[in-house]
Amino acid sequence: MNTGIRSKEAAPCRKKPGRGTVDGPVDGPADVYRLVTESVPKLSLTDVYCLLGHATKRRREFLLTHPEYVLKKEELYLWEEYKKRRIQAEPCAYITGKKEFYSLVFEVNGHTLIPRPETELLVDEVIGLSPSSVLDVGTGCGNIAVAVKSRLKECEVFATDKSRRALETAEKNARRILGAGAVTFIHSSFYQAVGERLFDVIVSNPPYVKRRDIASLAGEIKEYEPHDALDGGEDGLDAYRSILGDGGRFLAQSGRIVLEIDGRLLDGIGFLARENGYFIEKTKKDLAGKVRMAVVRKAL
Ligand SMILES: C[S@@+](CC[C@H](N)C(=O)[O-])C[C@H]1O[C@@H](n2cnc3c(N)ncnc32)[C@H](O)[C@@H]1O
Repeated sequence: MNTGIRSKEAAPCRKKPGRGTVDGPVDGPADVYRLVTESVPKLSLTDVYCLLGHATKRRREFLLTHPEYVLKKEELYLWEEYKKRRIQAEPCAYITGKKEFYSLVFEVNGHTLIPRPETELLVDEVIGLSPSSVLDVGTGCGNIAVAVKSRLKECEVFATDKSRRALETAEKNARRILGAGAVTFIHSSFYQAVGERLFDVIVSNPPYVKRRDIASLAGEIKEYEPHDALDGGEDGLDAYRSILGDGGRFLAQSGRIVLEIDGRLLDGIGFLARENGYFIEKTKKDLAGKVRMAVVRKAL
């Protein structure tokens, strides 16, 4: 989770000399150069370009190559509003209402977790297994289910969430990206409303933050992202207990359960797997070198 607000990205070069300096507020036209240089002490360059792009409906490439572009009155108003919200810790993705995942753009809002790049590991793994059927448990904005279906056209993809509002967003995303009916969404707590059927793969990025750790998360996470998407109970393992505990009834004999995890929970997940007749077949690390995924299958 990226909680930093500074970036190493280069600031833009001014094409024409302007008034003022980069060290403080300047008078003069509200051009891209000035707004970027004024904001960077407080916001990262990535955030500044994201919000300027949203305010002006211009691509980042345009803003980078046109530092002399002067924002229109209504664009400037929007920019000031977005900047204020970001400084108060609201994530850029909730301000713009979108987030890229697996090269697809997903609508997100306060009912859905913002998809993280490390979750793409799960999508790669599921696609590599070439399943005929997949169940995504706790789909949020639908990012895993939709990304899998976008690459495996013949695969039957189902997705559950206990949040109706999250499911509505996921359905909208699936319809826009893949067309109506490509993914079957089920309002369900874990497997409750899934019905009788077996899946080749069950995949889940469940809530896995220990309850006592939620208070120490960055403000942009704990104040803005849905609590039900984060809270893994006292030991962080509540969702894994349900997914592994009841999963046997829904998993084909040679199927896999692909889980996003916090590596610090690996021992606990290994214990739960053994207790329920599975073993951990493999784990994978994220780009930060932390164990982020476990693949579980039935013991013979
Ligand atoms: C960590 S978020 C993951 C969202 C999305 N899959 C992603 O990877 O970004 C966990 C999701 O599980 C859902 N959830 C929490 N408890 C659940 C339950 N008992 N049954 C189904 N979904 C649940 C939350 O509403 C949330 O959307």
